[in-house]
Amino acid sequence: MRILSIETSCDETAIAILDCHGDEQSANFEIRAHSLLSQIDIHREFGGVFPAVAKREHAKNLVPLLRDTLEEAELLHADTQLLEETARVRIGELLARESDMAEVFIEFISEVERPDIDAITVTYGPGLEPALWVGVNFAQALAVAWNVPLVPVNHMEGHFLIALTKRIGEHHLVIEEVEVPILGLLISGGHTEIDLMEPWLTYRTLGQTRDDAVGEAFDKVARMMGLPYPGGPEISRLAARDREDASTNPYKLPRPMIDTPDYDFSFSGLKTAVLYTIKDDPELAQHETAEGATADTRKKEQLARAFEDAAADVLVSKTLKALEETQAQVLAIGGGVSANMHIQERFRQALTEKLPYVDLRVPPEGLTGDNAIMIGIAGFYRAQAENFAPTGSLIANGNLRLA
Ligand code: KG4
Ligand code: ZN
Repeated sequence: MRILSIETSCDETAIAILDCHGDEQSANFEIRAHSLLSQIDIHREFGGVFPAVAKREHAKNLVPLLRDTLEEAELLHADTQLLEETARVRIGELLARESDMAEVFIEFISEVERPDIDAITVTYGPGLEPALWVGVNFAQALAVAWNVPLVPVNHMEGHFLIALTKRIGEHHLVIEEVEVPILGLLISGGHTEIDLMEPWLTYRTLGQTRDDAVGEAFDKVARMMGLPYPGGPEISRLAARDREDASTNPYKLPRPMIDTPDYDFSFSGLKTAVLYTIKDDPELAQHETAEGATADTRKKEQLARAFEDAAADVLVSKTLKALEETQAQVLAIGGGVSANMHIQERFRQALTEKLPYVDLRVPPEGLTGDNAIMIGIAGFYRAQAENFAPTGSLIANGNLRLA
């Protein structure tokens, strides 16, 4: 099955085309094309993502990105298409709120052949609603123009499923020998949750954050320390430098909710503890100079490490408890924060020591953050389950849940 997938839930505009084969225990995904336009440089100026800006950028980028992606997949063929009047009206209605996009969309559709694809999949939540809507409307208009089924995808399911894959070539991912129950730890800028999948594609959320998501805490702490957005990689880079030194760490930070009998998380107390530490020593908030090391750099490395250690402790502790209770033998860690090598390493160590039978899966390198490949994979399984959206009535849902 050939899937065209679209992702616009936050600050990345992404489109992919995948050839998918297989079933729930093993599958094969050939990436025919994969495009991603990050808005990070635009949002960095504001220190975070602004929904209206994200929406505008998605609307501007989707049609050109689709053209590039089809071309890369060798599916772009020029041809004059006469859109039927009813389709034209329908597309006009679907894109009524995307006035920037409507005209270029119609122009594009009128000059290319319908590509050989079996389904279009799109993220319809969770995320920033204005950003989600652009992708949803675009996907619906395409489904009408090309008369292809539309498959709505939950962004978090994309993060979950891509964590199960392994890269076996530059353009080739596989899922091998996976059996439910599967425990998922989803850690991103908007979410921190533990979900149990059983049966396949059916989820139960065991716990989630009561305040900030762990990625959000990384971003906020980085910002307090004068580091650029997104903060996760920045904190991680500083923390790694401190670990090389292996000296004792002067900062003691809390591990909120680590001993509570549930699977919930809280990261705002940890963030506030960092804030107070910085208030006591304003040098910790100074920007690094372009020349590199300044007097405060060592301290910042130590604080970054103390923060990363605290966050990792809580994630590992709660997740291991959930593994023990559910007896799941597969752990999938997905979402932007799963790129964190220290967190990955902490999980590897803890599992080797305590639950060596657990099969740990993390996304292939470069596919931890938002992308359209993960949406294509989830869309493939949802299409197999015939979870199609009636044409024209898909609604974006910023608070969509997995369970
Ligand atoms: O999944 P994602 O790309 O977008 C959302 O759906 O939120 O996750 C983005 C989050 C950001 O908070 C970013 O700081 C964090 O992932 N992140 C990291 C690392 N790389 C990205 N956090 C910790 N360590 C990293 N290496
Ligand atoms: Zn995400």
